[in-house]
Amino acid sequence: MKGSWNSTSTISITLYFLILLTFNFRDVFPAPTRHLCRPEQRDALLKFKNEFEIGKRHPYCTNGHPKTESWGNNSDCCNWEGITCNAKSGDVIELDLRCSSLHGRFHSDSSIRNLRFLTTLDLSWLSSLSLSHNQFTGTLPPNITSVSNLMELDARYNAFAGTFPSFLFTIPSLTEIDLSHNQLEGTLEFGNISSPSNLLSLDIGSNNLIGPISRSISKLVNLERLGLSHLNTQGPVDFSIFSHLKSLEDLDLSHLNTPTTIDLNNILSYFKRLGSLDLSGNHVSATNKSSVSDLPPQLIQALYLSGCGITEFPEFVRTQPLMTNLDISNNKIKGQVPNWLWRLPNLFYVNLSNNTFMGFERPTKPELSSVRNPSIEYLLGSNNSFTGKIPSFICELRFLNTLDLSDNNFNGSIPRCMGNLKSTLSDLSLRQNHLSGGLPKHIFESLRSLDVGHNQLVGKLPRSLIRFSTLEVLNVESNRINDIFPFWLSSLQKLQVLVLRSNAFHGPIHRASFPMLRIIDISNNHFNGTLPIEYFVKWSGMSSLGKNEDQSNEKYMGSGLNRGVIYYDSIVLMNRGVALELVRILKIYTAIDFSGNKFEGEIPKSIGLLKELHVLNLSNNAFTGCISSSMGNLRELESLDVSQNKLSGEIPQELGNLSYLAYMNFSHNQLSGLVPGGNQFQTQPCSSFEDNLGLFGSSLEEVCRDIHTPASHQQYETPETEEEEEEVISCIAAAIGFIPGIVFGLTIGYILVFYKPKWFMNPFGRNNCKRRSTTSH
Ligand SMILES: *[C@@H]1O[C@H](CO)[C@@H](O)[C@H](O)[C@H]1NC(C)=O
Ligand SMILES: *[C@@H]1O[C@H](CO)[C@@H](O)[C@H](O)[C@H]1NC(C)=O
Ligand SMILES: *[C@@H]1O[C@H](CO)[C@@H](O)[C@H](O)[C@H]1NC(C)=O
Ligand SMILES: *[C@@H]1O[C@H](CO)[C@@H](O)[C@H](O)[C@H]1NC(C)=O
Ligand SMILES: *[C@@H]1O[C@H](CO)[C@@H](O)[C@H](O)[C@H]1NC(C)=O
Ligand SMILES: *[C@@H]1O[C@H](CO)[C@@H](O)[C@H](O)[C@H]1NC(C)=O
Ligand SMILES: *[C@@H]1O[C@H](CO)[C@@H](O)[C@H](O)[C@H]1NC(C)=O
Repeated sequence: MKGSWNSTSTISITLYFLILLTFNFRDVFPAPTRHLCRPEQRDALLKFKNEFEIGKRHPYCTNGHPKTESWGNNSDCCNWEGITCNAKSGDVIELDLRCSSLHGRFHSDSSIRNLRFLTTLDLSWLSSLSLSHNQFTGTLPPNITSVSNLMELDARYNAFAGTFPSFLFTIPSLTEIDLSHNQLEGTLEFGNISSPSNLLSLDIGSNNLIGPISRSISKLVNLERLGLSHLNTQGPVDFSIFSHLKSLEDLDLSHLNTPTTIDLNNILSYFKRLGSLDLSGNHVSATNKSSVSDLPPQLIQALYLSGCGITEFPEFVRTQPLMTNLDISNNKIKGQVPNWLWRLPNLFYVNLSNNTFMGFERPTKPELSSVRNPSIEYLLGSNNSFTGKIPSFICELRFLNTLDLSDNNFNGSIPRCMGNLKSTLSDLSLRQNHLSGGLPKHIFESLRSLDVGHNQLVGKLPRSLIRFSTLEVLNVESNRINDIFPFWLSSLQKLQVLVLRSNAFHGPIHRASFPMLRIIDISNNHFNGTLPIEYFVKWSGMSSLGKNEDQSNEKYMGSGLNRGVIYYDSIVLMNRGVALELVRILKIYTAIDFSGNKFEGEIPKSIGLLKELHVLNLSNNAFTGCISSSMGNLRELESLDVSQNKLSGEIPQELGNLSYLAYMNFSHNQLSGLVPGGNQFQTQPCSSFEDNLGLFGSSLEEVCRDIHTPASHQQYETPETEEEEEEVISCIAAAIGFIPGIVFGLTIGYILVFYKPKWFMNPFGRNNCKRRSTTSH
């Protein structure tokens, strides 16, 4: 590998991101406490750290952070972030610097070569070149072939362009190539494949490759894993070319854009060891015409047949005792889900979504007895035609982690027996059914996400929700729940999404404070009362996203990755006046919708603290007073609706600076004065300003010539009042709750008494209702 440094360094032009050095080393344990790392290895690591700068974070790494920053010479390097030591020797054996924002050149004489383990593990080391999840562009240099011992090339998730680098096949040592998720284009040509090829694994899926699959692929006789997903064949495919690849264990032929119908039984008959087969997005005939027993014995563990135009449940699955993952979503399968499915002892994930299943066949005795020892963790059956009650056998699936039965016609109440699942069930969606009755009180204690929206549920929210300490998403929208505001949910440290929309909730909400909340929709209820000025002070989830303790790199809200499966949350929200379905919820998305209630009094000035707020809807309430200039701090705001209130005074000029504010609506209030300038204001339709006391300005003149504007640019001059003075003081009091944890107690008293610094006031801004006397002439 020594000679390889030169060549690899040439492709490592910009390490804008993350470097992942993989080692073929089985004995990897977490950092031990018994062995301190060796001083010379520690020094080499520190030197390595200094060879790079900490650059901008890669967009993929939403929650990554510079791991090397924590490295320091006065501690055990085995405990540093990203480092794994051999448990026995204490040698540094693994470096994981994914998403660490390292920026710079990977030099061929990098001090990392001085690490002692490099000599010991010389052969297996960088034999593996992993460049995945970076932003490499350009083409792979042909002289990569001079890396004499290269065994594994992992360049997934980059932007490598150009034609398929068939010269890779001339590297005799190469056993694994992963170029998936790049921008490779042109036809797929393998060139001269060295014979016999040692290649065990080839993944070139998700590129822009077009044309037929090269026949020479049949020479890769040792292939165990082949990925050709999204290869745009543009024509018929002769699938018998794969019949030569007798060693295949994992075959991904999804989305080939071919008119050829794949005969499932036929393709299965080619292989003896196939464990995973993905034919999603192709035409597949899974009819059970040839007897199942004609097939050679298979050991299929994962079968993905999503969107294959299948009309019958593939009977073949019945004979697959090792099956763990079955995806038959997006097909046209009718009738009942067969009961023998629950007899498969290893089944872990079943996706039946988007079919026309009517029901679940009742399990008989043999099924029930195997159901008692079930392995199934994911059961996804959304968007089918299931009717009747939710079947009670589901309560027997004791390892069930995720159950999605949304968009069906289930009726009756939520089965109380689901209490059996209370220690395992993490994600439950029963959205869009016809369920009635109340929400069960004592079940679901391990839930992360609960969505029962769009049903006919009545009663109160169970107070036992307070024990759901893992709850992140609670959505009960569009039911008939009649309750006061669930203040007690404030104690849920992880709650990020709360949707109570369109129920019969009532009363004040003034005591609520939610540290992690990012999306709250309580619109169209009967809430009333005023909101105190400091109302939003503790809503830190919307004021700084950095407070998110989330360590994962996942951009969207959902369950954690579990054996390759993630369940993503989804939600429908009003944004810019239209119902927006977020099939996945970006973790940076934030929204407050209090519209359609009876709130009165002023809009709390502390709203200006929510610097990460994207959507704010306060329309259709009875808010009075002025719009605080503090809203000018909402730099991420995209949509602002304060229409149909009793707001008076001016629209703060500060709002003119909000560059993302694409939608705003001030109509049906008592506003007056100059409408702010700025691009965003000039592109609004007239109806966004109509029915006010007297708004004027060049922005308006453009868009609404027909609404009446006041004759003169009058000033609203009133001297500052005592009341205003008081407001300033309460603003300061309110801000105390917002100061980051470092500054506390006496320090605050000191600042308050002696300084009253300017930034202290910023979140609340000045009062716009009245012009100060100093500004008048
Ligand atoms: C590989 O080719 C690049 C140019 O494409 C050149 O800069 C580099 O020196 C070459 N490396 C070796 C080891 O030949
Ligand atoms: C850590 O090492 C560097 C040089 O390697 C030295 O300059 C620095 O003073 C050391 N810091 C501590 C705290 O020992
Ligand atoms: C493939 O190899 C043969 C001989 O082994 C040679 O004649 C031919 O030119 C090669 N083709 C390419 C495209 O390299
Ligand atoms: C549920 O639906 C079934 C048929 O779809 C119907 O026969 C039954 O009466 C319904 N039950 C309730 C409680 O509405
Ligand atoms: C189930 O299948 C649907 C349709 O293909 C897909 O959108 C969804 O993500 C799948 N669910 C899970 C948890 O994999
Ligand atoms: C605000 O909410 C009201 C009522 O809930 C809705 O009609 C309106 O479209 C929403 N505004 C925006 C900008 O989404
Ligand atoms: C602004 O809101 C009013 C009432 O809330 C609505 O009638 C009007 O269509 C809205 N304007 C725009 C541009 O959405």
